[in-house]
Amino acid sequence: MLKNKIIGLIGSGNMGEAIVGGLIAAKATDPKNIICADIRAKRLQFLKETYGVKISSKNTEVAKTAEVLIYAIKPQMVASVLMETADFIDMSKLVISVAAGLPLAAIEKMLDKETRLIRVMPNIAALVKEAASAVAAGKNADTADTDIAMTIFSSIGKTVLVKETAMDAVTGLSGSGPAYIFIVVDALADAGVKMGLSREEASFLATQTVLGAARLIIDSGEHPGQLKDKVSSPGGTTIAGIHALENGGIRNTLINAVEAATKRSQELGQMTAAHFSEPQ
Ligand SMILES: NC(=O)c1ccc[n+]([C@@H]2O[C@H](COP(=O)([O-])OP(=O)(O)OC[C@H]3O[C@@H](n4cnc5c(N)ncnc54)[C@H](OP(=O)(O)O)[C@@H]3O)[C@@H](O)[C@H]2O)c1
Repeated sequence: MLKNKIIGLIGSGNMGEAIVGGLIAAKATDPKNIICADIRAKRLQFLKETYGVKISSKNTEVAKTAEVLIYAIKPQMVASVLMETADFIDMSKLVISVAAGLPLAAIEKMLDKETRLIRVMPNIAALVKEAASAVAAGKNADTADTDIAMTIFSSIGKTVLVKETAMDAVTGLSGSGPAYIFIVVDALADAGVKMGLSREEASFLATQTVLGAARLIIDSGEHPGQLKDKVSSPGGTTIAGIHALENGGIRNTLINAVEAATKRSQELGQMTAAHFSEPQ
């Protein structure tokens, strides 16, 4: 799929490295087809030594060389780096942004030229190749382009194609979602300790339970509600626990969390778009 395309990364921090590591581990491309730029020389040296990729201290060199160019810098850096690299971007390149909350329209406005653009919202589980990534295509990106993006981000987890209008909801659910689950695991572990387990035992059991439940939903293909019914025996322990969860408003709380994060993402997107409209 990637057919020896040169993949360039501008910004080689956490997400950049996760992508590089994912591509190489999945054998989706050869390290020699990847070129990374970053402001930190040590970081680049580390990537070269660890993954065998090419490196450059110049964003412009990577922008010039790459056929697929991924911007993996912090959202607040994107405007200036786009300005810096804009001369090397044209319709021959596929440009991918992973910047959270940065609308494609803002990038298009900044570049002020026709571009094959794709926006991707991965999450922190990219670090363990279990990211949930949503991919949204800009107006000039065709199916071959989205296939390339899906292939790249499949190497760090699972992908779903969405309309860009869904990206705030994606951010509220899967972007912020790992933090919600960290709290769930932490709380379950606290509960285990309260009930007399050691911290180590409780943390292990809580974590493995969340992992196992997610794996069961995926592998069985069953609705989580059906699985919940299956494990709740009449008058048993699980239904007693579920009753307590419902009393505490667990569903309402989670829905509120995703709604609040989605709204915050919308607000931040509007602020970013306004920032992009200002002269740089
Ligand atoms: N990490 C995640 O889980 C996650 C999830 C979804 C989306 N994202 C998105 O991914 C993007 C990158 O996030 P990250 O977590 O990988 O950030 P990060 O670890 O800070 O990586 C960004 C890298 O870019 C470098 N950099 C800063 N300015 C630069 C410039 N002008 N030219 C080249 N490189 C520059 C940074 O160096 P300095 O540290 O010296 O600034 C850093 O090494 C963000 O837009 C974020 O919204 C991340």
